[in-house]
Amino acid sequence: MNEALLITSGKGGVGKSTLAVNLAATLALMGHAVVLVDADTGLRSLDMMLGLENDVVYDLTDVAEGVCKLRQAIVPVPSVLGLRMVAASALRDTGSVSRGKMREIIGELKERFYVVIDCPAGVDEGFRIAASGAERAIIVTQNDPVCARDAERVKGLLERAGVTDVMLVVNHARRERLKRGETSACERLAERLDLPLLGVIGENDAFRIAAQKGCPLVLKDKETEQTFEAIARRLQGESLPLKPLGRLTLWQWLKKDYRDD
Ligand SMILES: Nc1ncnc2c1ncn2[C@@H]1O[C@H](COP(=O)(O)OP(=O)(O)O)[C@@H](O)[C@H]1O
Ligand SMILES: [Mg+2]
Repeated sequence: MNEALLITSGKGGVGKSTLAVNLAATLALMGHAVVLVDADTGLRSLDMMLGLENDVVYDLTDVAEGVCKLRQAIVPVPSVLGLRMVAASALRDTGSVSRGKMREIIGELKERFYVVIDCPAGVDEGFRIAASGAERAIIVTQNDPVCARDAERVKGLLERAGVTDVMLVVNHARRERLKRGETSACERLAERLDLPLLGVIGENDAFRIAAQKGCPLVLKDKETEQTFEAIARRLQGESLPLKPLGRLTLWQWLKKDYRDD
């Protein structure tokens, strides 16, 4: 049974689109038929992040307004077999796709695909529209008090929108600590928010470069591929420990300290 998964955060710039693109690519590489829906109406970005800016003819607003059929707005991603994208309108306002229309479109997509929805920043109508039709959500956060407060608020709003299966991913963690397996601070954050922790993603400038080149980083970098594979497997119910990538070298083990990340 296919599902619709919302990637959200409240705050902008936390890494929603980065997670959406790389997780959708990972799920496709694992054999799922995946469609990535850009719900950031007016500020679309997924087309550029996937190198498809010249391939979009119709968008989500066109589908909602009956300008085209849904299938005409589904653009295949040539670099990832099994992945497609539906773009957000680059020009129209948030309200150009109603909650009811969004629910209808997501329902239709779910008949054929695993649906990943990239939510806009904020907690207003754009958030509520993006959440329509989703039954699961990942909140992306950073391990700092402002982001944590945002995550808590978004969790409450998701519940009110009827999305109760909610999980957490911590982004922008310190990579050197992550490599040493120091994830206890992120685990404590997840405990405090009372959300299952799907994974922790390290700070890595290669995400920005890959996005500029229009290619998901999971296709280019082994460490990122492993991180996202573990996230995708936990998402599908596997219980995997948040262990370091590979074994610690003796030098890393000797240097290992027990401060928080
Ligand atoms: N783990 C990371 N390390 C370094 N840069 C990152 C990471 N995650 C995201 N970024 C960068 O941060 C910026 C904002 O990310 P984005 O995914 O667009 O956030 P959002 O969709 O939440 O607004 C982008 O330039 C992106 O490449
Ligand atoms: Mg975004």
